[in-house]
Amino acid sequence: VRDDSHSASAYVAKYIIDRITAFAPTPAHPFVLGLPTGSSPIKVYQILVEKYKAGEVAFENVVTFNMDEYIGIPREHPESYHTFMYTHFFSHVNVHPRNIHILNGNAPDLEAECVAYEAAIKARGGIDLFLGGIGPDGHVAFNEPGSSLASRTRVKTLAYDTIIANSRFFGNDIEKVPKMALTVGVQTVLEAREVVIIIAGAHKALALQKCIEEGVNHMWTLSALQMHPHPMIVVDEDATLEL
Ligand code: GLP
Repeated sequence: VRDDSHSASAYVAKYIIDRITAFAPTPAHPFVLGLPTGSSPIKVYQILVEKYKAGEVAFENVVTFNMDEYIGIPREHPESYHTFMYTHFFSHVNVHPRNIHILNGNAPDLEAECVAYEAAIKARGGIDLFLGGIGPDGHVAFNEPGSSLASRTRVKTLAYDTIIANSRFFGNDIEKVPKMALTVGVQTVLEAREVVIIIAGAHKALALQKCIEEGVNHMWTLSALQMHPHPMIVVDEDATLEL
C-alpha cells in the first residue's frame, strides 16, 4: 500500500526495472513483459521512459505482449490500445518493433488471431511478468464478470459497466465505444511467472475488496490471482477503503 497513486506507480516502475536488470536479458534470452492500457499504468510508463532516457534501464532485449485491444476501430484510432501503447511507451523507448505484440482487433479471422497470440507467447517461453490494472468491476484485461477462470485469448463482449467506464475516452458517448474486444484470458494471465497489478482510487475499492478478501470467483476475475504463486497488488490508500 502506497500513500498515493504517484508513489504506487513509482514503486511498480522501479520493481519492473529491478526485475529486468536482475534477469539480464539477452537476444537469445529476452525478458517477456505483459503490458496493460488504461489510465492506471500511464504514470508507470512515464517513469519507465524517464529512467530509460536517464540510462537506468534498456528495453532492447525485452519482448512485450499487450493484454487486449478493441475490435472494430482502426489501429490508428486515437483510442485504440495500439495508439495508446505507442503514445505512452513504445515511441519513447528502445523496444524493437519485432518484439512488440498487440492483438489485432481488425484481423480477418479473430479466432485465428487469438490462437496465434497464445502460440507467440508460448514460443517466447511464456510471460515473465504481467503488469495489469483492473476495471471497477474487478475485470483484468477484458475478462469481464462471468469469464471462465480457465479462459485463454479470445473475443469478448464488453460488459455494460465497462462500456460506460470507457466512454470517457470516447467523448462520453457510449455509442462510440467499441462493444467487443480481443483479450488474453484469465488463464493466460495466471500462467505468467509473476503478476503485478496496480490499482488506484476509491472507485476501485470495492473491486479490490471482492478480489482479495472474498473467494475466488468468476464475477470478480482478478480474484483468480489468489491462485497465483507470485502475485503482487500495488495500491494507493484510496483503493483500500473497503478492506
Ligand atoms: C480497460 C482495460 C483494462 C484496464 C481497465 C481499467 O477496461 N481493458 O485492462 O485495467 O480499463 O482502466 P483504468 O486504469 O483507466 O481505470
